[in-house]
Amino acid sequence: MTRPKTIAVSSFKGGTAKTSTALHFGAALAKKHGKKVLLVDFDAQANLTTGLGFDPDENDSMASVLQGKNTVADVIKNSGLPNLDIVPADTWLERVEVTGALAADRYSHEKLRDILSPLDYDFILIDTPPSLCWLTESAMIAAQHTLVCATPEFYSVKGLERLGQFIDSIAQRHTLSVLAVVLSFWNPRGKSNDAFLEVIENTFPNKLLATKVHRDIKVSDASVYGKPIFEVAPKSRAAEDYLALAEELLTRF
Ligand SMILES: Nc1ncnc2c1ncn2[C@@H]1O[C@H](COP(=O)(O)OP(=O)(O)OP(=O)(O)O)[C@@H](O)[C@H]1O
Ligand SMILES: [Mg+2]
Repeated sequence: MTRPKTIAVSSFKGGTAKTSTALHFGAALAKKHGKKVLLVDFDAQANLTTGLGFDPDENDSMASVLQGKNTVADVIKNSGLPNLDIVPADTWLERVEVTGALAADRYSHEKLRDILSPLDYDFILIDTPPSLCWLTESAMIAAQHTLVCATPEFYSVKGLERLGQFIDSIAQRHTLSVLAVVLSFWNPRGKSNDAFLEVIENTFPNKLLATKVHRDIKVSDASVYGKPIFEVAPKSRAAEDYLALAEELLTRF
């Protein structure tokens, strides 16, 4: 068994398609590349959980494993799709680090890494909340790579600088590198596209993927059905983009 490739999907800002990217990169790896994939919903909003048709109120999350109340095997569910498993989220993730046994644990940041590293998967993708909080830091310590999500908007690309500093500070103490930057909600005719691309290149040189995920309403439609877009609208623009994204990301390992 080789150690799983663990990737934290991150951004400082909300609504940059982190959850959609984690879901569809994972689903593409499982469906098109035969990889064994675990998705970890590490955001109390539980959008990845509901995006795969699970009810966050009915399942235990990683919070219970971090607190020592469950084993990780207890909380892993199959998504209903072959090779694609998920650890759902629940509201207990919010402020989990100041709750129960974790509150007194000086090394609580490293717990997620210790939980995930023995697992038998090709890829583990961790979806993080839109802030540089304990959950995001733990996810980055657990991961060897982070996939940075951005949108072609001023505040999104501005936030990259702060995220870059956060990643650097963790990388000084742990194995962590930026796998790539992915732009979602892409509009090929956007007036400021060149300016955005330049900021990204300056902040994360050579990391921006050639593949961009176009704005496509089918992404949100699919989440209503609780399934990846490949199951609901396989011929859509975004479905094609996500397949290309997975192909391109695989070349980066
Ligand atoms: N390419 C796209 N085109 C159109 N809508 C999209 C696209 N990608 C994501 N969406 C929709 O935009 C919304 C935000 O996406 P998503 O939840 O993936 O972002 P996020 O970064 O995880 O948000 P948060 O910061 O709140 O966790 C969702 O409703 C999602 O369905
Ligand atoms: Mg999200």
